[in-house]
Amino acid sequence: MEKNHRIDLKPFEKKIWLSSPTMHGEELEYVIDAYETNWMSTVGENLNELERIACEYTGCSYAVALSSGTAALHMAVKLAGVKSGDKVFCSDMTFDATVNPVVYEGGIPIFIDTEYDTWNMDPVALEKAFELYPDVKVVVFAHLYGTPGKIDEIKCICEKHGAVIIEDAAESLGATYKGIQTGTFGTYNAISFNGNKIITGSSGGMLLTNDKNAANKVRKWSTQARENAPWYQHEELGYNYRMSNVIAGIVRGQFRHLNEHVAQKKAIYERYKEGLKDLPIMMNPYDSEKSQPNFWLSCMLIHPEAMCKQVRGEQEALYISEPGKSCPTEILETLAKYNAEGRPIWKPMHMQPIYRMNGFITREGNGRAKTNAYITGEAVGKDGKPLDVGMDIFHRGLCLPSDNKMTPEQQDIIIEIVKSCFNYE
Ligand SMILES: Cc1ncc(COP(=O)(O)O)c(C=O)c1O
Repeated sequence: MEKNHRIDLKPFEKKIWLSSPTMHGEELEYVIDAYETNWMSTVGENLNELERIACEYTGCSYAVALSSGTAALHMAVKLAGVKSGDKVFCSDMTFDATVNPVVYEGGIPIFIDTEYDTWNMDPVALEKAFELYPDVKVVVFAHLYGTPGKIDEIKCICEKHGAVIIEDAAESLGATYKGIQTGTFGTYNAISFNGNKIITGSSGGMLLTNDKNAANKVRKWSTQARENAPWYQHEELGYNYRMSNVIAGIVRGQFRHLNEHVAQKKAIYERYKEGLKDLPIMMNPYDSEKSQPNFWLSCMLIHPEAMCKQVRGEQEALYISEPGKSCPTEILETLAKYNAEGRPIWKPMHMQPIYRMNGFITREGNGRAKTNAYITGEAVGKDGKPLDVGMDIFHRGLCLPSDNKMTPEQQDIIIEIVKSCFNYE
C-alpha cells in the first residue's frame, strides 16, 4: 500500500525555499549611491547609517558592522576574554557558528541541553553546569529560529556566577522579550545578515553592545588592529572583518522592511498552526506572555506516538512508513518531491562528530547518550524517556518551508502535502 502523497498535486514550478532573500528596491539605490560616489570600501555613508539604524531599532548603544555574524561572535568571544583552555558554556541545539568562535580562541565549549518550552538553552541544565564547573566565566546563548529563550532565568544564573553573556541573536533580529529586542541582553551580542536571515545583505553581521570601549576595540580589531600612527603600526592581532559599504547599503535598505518581514513570517507560522492542527504534532513553541518571536522559521514536532521508525546515520536516513504515522525524513523527502525545501532541526552540537568529546550537561547532570543512539538515531532510552532534549527534538522535529514570498495558496498545498504523510489512501 502506498501513502497518498497527493498525486493530484503537481510539484511547484518555482521552488519554495526554506527562507530566501527578499529585496524591495531601496537596497539597490544605496548600492548605486556607494558605486557612484566611489565609496566601494569598508568606510562610507551606508556603514555609518546602518550602524545608526541598528542602534535605533534594537535600543543598543553601539553597533559595529562586520563581514558576518560569525565574525561578530568571534569578536565577542575575544572581548569576553576567552583564552586557550577556558571552558565556555554554549547552547547545544544551534548552528555551529554559535560555538566555533570559542574554539578559534582555544576555548572548550561545554554544551548545555535544551528545554521544551522555547527550544533554547535550559536554565536548569545551566545551573547544573555551574555546579560541575564553577569556574566558567562565559556563556554563549542563542535564540533558535527567532524564538527568544528564557532570558530572565539565564541572566539571573549568569549574574549569580559572575559569568558574561554573549547573546547570539543571529536568527532572532526583530524578536522581543518583555518588549526589549533580542541582541541587547548580553554584554556582547551578535546579529547576522546572511542570505537566509530575516533581513540580509547577502552576507554580513554586527556586534551590538552598550560598552563603548568594547565597540571601539572591535572597530580596531576588525580593520587589522592598526594603531594611531602615520604608518601601519600593530600592537595587537588584527582581522579583516569589517563590512563593506556596498553590503551595508543592502542591509540599510532591508532594515526598513524588517517589521514587514516579521509580520509575514508570523502569518506563515499562524497558517501552519491552523492548517496542521488536526495532526499529531505541535509547532515550535514560545512564551507568548514574555516574548514575541520574529518567526524566522516555522517548525513542527511530531508527537512520540505518531513517529514511524526512523534511523539516521552520519550522512543518511532511513524510515519505515506506517499508516497514521510519519517522521521528519518522510516529510522532508515528500516536500522535496514537490519542489519545496524543508530542513531537519539543527543537529545538536553534542551529537556532531567534531564536538562529540566535549562536555554536555543535561538537567540530570553529565548527560552522554547511554546507548548507541548516535548510530540508530533513537531519541529515547530503554526506559522510554528522552536521552536528552536536543536529541529528541532533532529526532522528531523539522523546519517547514518558511519563505516570506510563499503565497497562502502555495502554503495551503504544503499543508496538504504534510498531512498526506500521516495517512494511507
Ligand atoms: C544561530 C546562528 N549563529 C550564528 C550564525 C552565523 O552567522 P553568519 O552566517 O552571518 O556568519 C548563524 C547563521 O548563519 C546562525 O544561525
